[in-house]
Amino acid sequence: MASFVNKVVVVTGATSGIGRETAVRFAAAGARVVATGRSQERLAEVAGVVDLALTLDVTDDTSVAIATAAVLDRYGGVDVVVNNAGIGLFSAWEDTDIAAIARVMDVNFYGAVRVARAFLPSLIDRKGVLLQVASVAGRRGYARHTAYCASKHALIGWSESVRHDLAGTGASVVVVCPPAVRTPFFENAGYHTFDEDHPGLVTMTPGAVADGVLDAAHRRPDRVILSPRARALDVLNFVSPRLLRVVQGFK
Ligand SMILES: NC(=O)c1ccc[n+]([C@@H]2O[C@H](COP(=O)([O-])OP(=O)(O)OC[C@H]3O[C@@H](n4cnc5c(N)ncnc54)[C@H](OP(=O)(O)O)[C@@H]3O)[C@@H](O)[C@H]2O)c1
Repeated sequence: MASFVNKVVVVTGATSGIGRETAVRFAAAGARVVATGRSQERLAEVAGVVDLALTLDVTDDTSVAIATAAVLDRYGGVDVVVNNAGIGLFSAWEDTDIAAIARVMDVNFYGAVRVARAFLPSLIDRKGVLLQVASVAGRRGYARHTAYCASKHALIGWSESVRHDLAGTGASVVVVCPPAVRTPFFENAGYHTFDEDHPGLVTMTPGAVADGVLDAAHRRPDRVILSPRARALDVLNFVSPRLLRVVQGFK
């Protein structure tokens, strides 16, 4: 495991799933971890294993400003920001109105951009790394996931553009694309038939994703797709989106 001794690491959405495992693993690797989220109960649970547990709602400018100021006051700067907070929405396109799309965009896209904009000056100062937890759903479309896929495509587009803007600064932007992961995410998204719809699918554990996030923070590739199967499907989609749809049964 790479060492992150005394590095200051901020993780959004660290009260559950991938974010919590990522916070725990960075702490185990010696980092001074700031775990953030909205749920006070779940923040209290993670507080014991990290340096600081902080309320941060990524949809709220004031909340982001207060949390950023608290982190910079306490540590003087940040080395790693993991933009992980996110929500899904399992919904047919005709049931997904603009307000529903806006709610998903506000967390997954504008929320991530709010947090990135708040911490980028410090990341540039410290030649740090911004890890954007996107998804394989930011690389192609999935049935009944219009809002979610749009938000993750937007996040990848923003991230790949800001990487160009940061050229020569020493700061890095890494796009992390997990495939399906066993967390409360699908239930929270209203996708109660995920297992029935994907019989036999081997999902990743949040711990394995977190290991991938730490490795990416260390190596700083531009993009990492976190399973051999997902990488193969990504290539197939690049070559022929139609063939991929046939292979996947139009899911
Ligand atoms: N699970 C998957 O299959 C999968 C696959 C690919 C990518 N991803 C991405 O991985 C990330 C984490 O997902 P997960 O599977 O770990 O889901 P999860 O277990 O449902 O956790 C989501 C986290 O996001 C936080 N969050 C939600 N809204 C927020 C807001 N407005 N402000 C701040 N935090 C907020 C939640 O914390 P609070 O409720 O305490 O705020 C929670 O800690 C997401 O970006 C998701 O899109 C997941």
